Amino acid sequence: MTVAAARNNDTLTRHVVYPFANANFLAENPPICIEGGEGVYVSDGQGGRYLDGQAGLWNVNVGHGRPEIKQAIVEQLDRLSFYSTFGNTTNSPSVALAEELCRLAAPEGMVRAFFSSGGSEANEAAIKLAKQYWRLAGEPLRTKIISLRGAYHGVTLGALSAGGVNVYKEQFTPLLPGFFQVETPHAYRNPFTSDPEALGRLCAELLEREIIYQGPGSVAAFMAEPVQGAGGVIVPPPNFWPLLREVCDRHGVLLIADEVVTGFGRSGSMFGSRAWGVKPDIMVFAKGINSGYIPLGATLINAKVDTAFQSDDRSQFTPRAFMHGNTYAGHPLACAAAIANLRIVEREELPANAGKVGAYLLARLKDIQKRHPNMGDVRGKGLMIGIELVADPETKRPFDLAENFGQRIWERCVAKGILIRNLADTFIISPPLTFTTEHADRIADTFDEAISAVE
Ligand SMILES: Cc1ncc(COP(=O)(O)O)c(C=O)c1O
Repeated sequence: MTVAAARNNDTLTRHVVYPFANANFLAENPPICIEGGEGVYVSDGQGGRYLDGQAGLWNVNVGHGRPEIKQAIVEQLDRLSFYSTFGNTTNSPSVALAEELCRLAAPEGMVRAFFSSGGSEANEAAIKLAKQYWRLAGEPLRTKIISLRGAYHGVTLGALSAGGVNVYKEQFTPLLPGFFQVETPHAYRNPFTSDPEALGRLCAELLEREIIYQGPGSVAAFMAEPVQGAGGVIVPPPNFWPLLREVCDRHGVLLIADEVVTGFGRSGSMFGSRAWGVKPDIMVFAKGINSGYIPLGATLINAKVDTAFQSDDRSQFTPRAFMHGNTYAGHPLACAAAIANLRIVEREELPANAGKVGAYLLARLKDIQKRHPNMGDVRGKGLMIGIELVADPETKRPFDLAENFGQRIWERCVAKGILIRNLADTFIISPPLTFTTEHADRIADTFDEAISAVE
């Protein structure tokens, strides 16, 4: 099929199974086929040009079509398109990227990187690293993983078992045993308190109670996103992560930070956990690691975890080998793209820009919220912002999804050349980190106009 034919709406849906999508809905509302991208804009090849308020899928952090990344990929392609990192071979871009990642995450104490092809796989590796760590460390009963309700860690069975959004899980039960979720500190929706600090303390206490209930000697790790993304952009109170670290330390539990969205600047600092002043034991990256130019994930470990995998045994398949790996672990093209991408992130100080422009956009949207009671909650950190729509602001009752309230707002935004994501009536704004306040104004003004029209 030619690219031109792909623009025919009917062919867009005939043979493709789209992720998380109802085929009937898509047949009636065909997806926009994006054909081109430049900077913060994308185009559909039929004259439609859109400001990319979602950075692809919160991943194109440096923007589309960056010549440096293209050049790095092409130069690598001219040298070598692929070689395996299994056994006794490796390739130099993966070695160089591991060094670069450990340099960037040195303040967090990270010393080694394990590569995979995306966020779910990188979380899967984190879970396995934690489990094998405890076997090697002489506590083989520590196998359980605790995480947060509302968490999104991906779709492979381990990552999904750690997830805390039921709609993604219920079709695939029973999931893996030994995974438990505790309450997330959700300021807008919780039955406990409106005091953020009290909420952070209470949720950390609930984690501690769960660890004690399970038996600390059976818990391998606690994993969480520094800011929950796909769960609706849930920003925890500032005391929550430091308290999490204390709880984990008190019970010897490893702390895994899923930085797939927050990594490399999105929440306003280089890493989400750095913003909370916390050093995890394992850090998980994908998306912004190379802005999606080629699929890549990475799982970083600190010296404590690494030490357990070291021994005097020199045989190839010692039990101290991490018994895990995918063909594309350390793909040279993806790693070359990542090195070029991270140079841009540092040189253009994109974490600071995300903090500045994100705060500006959040303030503008909160101002707009005053005129629109259906904007129940506007929240965010850096350039990850959520707008939760409600039918009744008093009771916080959501809309009946059949009313298509959010969908109609989304359609007006698209008609005005803005792409932002509507996830069950919570809009998610996660643009490239190169966004300016002018771009932010355009998103805010368009959303204001769209919700006014639909109301
Ligand atoms: C925090 C988080 N972790 C993991 C994943 C899974 O990543 P992937 O879709 O690349 O498998 C996502 C995807 O959105 C995510 O937001």
